[in-house]
Amino acid sequence: MNRQDHSSAAVQTLRWREGRLEMIDQRVLPARFEYLPFTSAAEVAEGIRSMVVRGAPAIGCAAAYGVALESVRLRGATREAFAVGLQRGFDVLAASRPTAVNLFWALARMRAVWDANQHRAVGDIVDCLLAQAHEISADDVRINRAMGAYGAALLADGARVLTHCNAGALATAGHGTALGVIRSAVQAGKRISVIADETRPFLQGARLTAWEMVQEKIPVTLITDNMAGHLMSRGEIDAVVVGTDRVAANGDVANKIGTYMVAVLAQRHNIPFYVACPLSTIDLAVPDGAAIPIEERAAEEVTGFRDCQWAAKGVQVRNPAFDVTPAELVTALITEKGVVTRPNQTRIAGLFAD
Ligand code: MRU
Repeated sequence: MNRQDHSSAAVQTLRWREGRLEMIDQRVLPARFEYLPFTSAAEVAEGIRSMVVRGAPAIGCAAAYGVALESVRLRGATREAFAVGLQRGFDVLAASRPTAVNLFWALARMRAVWDANQHRAVGDIVDCLLAQAHEISADDVRINRAMGAYGAALLADGARVLTHCNAGALATAGHGTALGVIRSAVQAGKRISVIADETRPFLQGARLTAWEMVQEKIPVTLITDNMAGHLMSRGEIDAVVVGTDRVAANGDVANKIGTYMVAVLAQRHNIPFYVACPLSTIDLAVPDGAAIPIEERAAEEVTGFRDCQWAAKGVQVRNPAFDVTPAELVTALITEKGVVTRPNQTRIAGLFAD
């Protein structure tokens, strides 16, 4: 039985409405589903920093719109004031979050459009930048569907698939990367069930992945992060599919904190560990995982949640938001250009060969 695809209709993470950007406020899901408006690069940067929008591809799309919004704000400015103001917009967006390379990839694409149109009237540059932001978002959905098709072929009918964090429609412009693979497999008629790690401390799994799957009636079971090993040891997980924030040139994978733990467990139990990875998430400038900048977030995310604080006052806290899974633990990268098994430097370089 083929299921209908509700993903892009139901979850439009970012949308352009009446000259401004609107983004789903992912901090308050699933209790509330609401859009917040954004009208400048600084506002979008704050939205990224505070996690209104999160997930590597969605952050990239938001940053592109942030540049476009700033250019719209500066439409009436002189060429000089436009250049100064827009540069400031690029800078504030680049400083919002450090790990997901899609942010910098999207800013580079916006910069290239600006550079290529420098000689034109300010109004024309604005139009080109906005068109580019729309294109980045539309491309993202197309890329996710292509990855979904490749990845779906890797999952057997009846597979029980563990995922970590949220690499769904909410983390992209639509369809998702890891959840895109699951969606595509379900749309192809496979009976897939999802085991969602809750994903401490920000709870992207419990709040966002579980919500997306429940919305679409894809069977989902929520576990706390420390239960994955137990389920694997009992033969209750057939595959792991996760997303990524940055893949180094040698195939090391940065993703949400806790992913490395899952990869080690998967190897121990001979369970395939797949990473859904658009080419925009591969950073050839970074030789290996040790060189990937890892964001450290506020201690309050670990000592409690929202208004409820449970840790002893005065305790020291570490809160790295991402970790690195060595390439040797990755069964395959699923990209829009196909599946790269046992990724290494040569195979990754091959993706960019033509
Ligand atoms: O801190 P977040 O929520 O932005 O982290 C998101 C992740 O780690 C995702 O797994 C990753 O960005 C891939 S999203 C398609």
